[in-house]
Amino acid sequence: GGDAFVPAVVVGTGYGAAVCALRLAEAGVETLMLEMGRRWDGPGADGSVFCGMLRPDERSSWFKSRTEAPLSTFLWLDVVNRNIRPYAGVLDRVRFDGMSVYVGRGVGGGSLVNGGMAVTPRRSYFEEVLPQVDAGEMYERYFPRANAALRVNRIDKAWFEQTEWYKYARVSRTQAARAGLGTVFVPNVYDFGHMRREAAGEVPRSALATEVIYGNNHGKMSLDKTYLAAALRTGKVTIRPLHRVTTIERRRDGTYLLGAEETDAHGAPLGRREISCTHLFLGAGSLGTTELLLRARETGTLPDLPPEIGTGWGPNGNVMTARANHLWNPTGPHQSSIPALGIDDWDNPAAPVFAEIAPIPAGLETWASLYLAITKNPERGTFTYDKATDRLGLRWTRDQNAPAVRAAKSLFDRVNRANGTMYRYDLFGGGLRNFADDFCYHPLGGCVLGRATDLHGRVRGYRNLYVVDGSLIPGSIGVNPFVTITALAERNIERVIAQDVTV
Ligand code: FDA
Repeated sequence: GGDAFVPAVVVGTGYGAAVCALRLAEAGVETLMLEMGRRWDGPGADGSVFCGMLRPDERSSWFKSRTEAPLSTFLWLDVVNRNIRPYAGVLDRVRFDGMSVYVGRGVGGGSLVNGGMAVTPRRSYFEEVLPQVDAGEMYERYFPRANAALRVNRIDKAWFEQTEWYKYARVSRTQAARAGLGTVFVPNVYDFGHMRREAAGEVPRSALATEVIYGNNHGKMSLDKTYLAAALRTGKVTIRPLHRVTTIERRRDGTYLLGAEETDAHGAPLGRREISCTHLFLGAGSLGTTELLLRARETGTLPDLPPEIGTGWGPNGNVMTARANHLWNPTGPHQSSIPALGIDDWDNPAAPVFAEIAPIPAGLETWASLYLAITKNPERGTFTYDKATDRLGLRWTRDQNAPAVRAAKSLFDRVNRANGTMYRYDLFGGGLRNFADDFCYHPLGGCVLGRATDLHGRVRGYRNLYVVDGSLIPGSIGVNPFVTITALAERNIERVIAQDVTV
């Protein structure tokens, strides 16, 4: 393909990317988005866009020959994963030595696969993590703007209290209360009105049909239905799916030249595309953006990138764990796949934990309660790039997750003591494991705000080059991160459009 010029290119279509594309388009800037995953808008042979969680097919996974679900076993049996054909499926598990990172692939990025939990961090912790950002402005303007545009909504409490679909959450709440722990309702972008109509049998089921990590066919207001839909409606935004950006160089006139590999959904190469632009926004996520910049620095196409690129990475203190319940304390075979409650012990100075009460939407009674704990782990990892193999690495060892496991253990030991219960050891792969500390859902950092970039995401050393996604956040935010990523992108792009972009 020939060399096409566009004023602005956005790499990726996740949260940061979607915010930038919409705001650039509203400012009148023609914007091209390049996304390595496919568009998820047409039904497959079975009539659904996404495959379900219990019988996953090729649509589930990003070029794997076997699915790699986080809860891989049940009673140690490998009953969850299935062999599939390699395909541009929606969920990827990127494996580094000490840590696997789950990410979404497709137009909408992580919003296609995530649990939709839309949590504004508590202000005191936001101020601790990003002290250079004006928190007043964030909490008055950008968090509300992000919440509105993302269509964040809350569950009806009366319905929550009586529906069978959230029995598992009520059981966990009671057990937490016995240990003196409080819970909070967690807002979501899944339309809870739709979910109630699912329960009433009025609309097709998604959250109530175990759908989540391989995509929701109904109900979830993912980015393709919010920010990206609005961006496309301006007529100024073009999205090219199945384009993986590999190289970035700066030309003498100051414009950027991007190289991208286009494939079909089965991975067959369709050719290398070259696109040039004036303003380049990187929204490929913590892994994707950091990889692009490290490769550019190490191969000499952007040699003046700062040494801070690749540093300050963390998994948001993620640890999963599960408890076994007594036979007289079932959680119910019917579980909404969209979480609604979290155990909030963040004010515990010894071991701050915010633990989402997660469903096990297996369609049968599991006698287990599952949790995703978000802890305050101070350990940080560093990305590496090996020129010889063109591979992104992550320096992160398993023992760096020990502080996170310790914090989660101190909380759930309390819950177990108060209820006379034990951990489950059979859910996280082979062996005896009660804490899953080898994977995460919340990769953060790699191009940290104020270090690799200025205070608005402008990459140091280069004009008109921006980081707009989760790589800006230094490894931890204390809650599920996408609302923060979105709000920070809203803040940064407003400044960048006002100061850097002339139409
Ligand atoms: P994001 O990862 O969303 O998007 C990056 C996009 O860039 C992807 O579409 C990717 O394919 C594309 N890309 C990467 N490299 C590229 C390249 N070289 N060329 C072209 N395109 C490229 N958070 C939360 O707040 N609440 C929740 O409930 C959950 N739950 C959850 C569950 C699961 C299973 C996962 C995997 C994650 C979550 N998360 C979550 C995390 C949340 O989804 C995540 O923090 C955000 O999606 C990150 O947003 P970004 O904008 O940083 O990138």
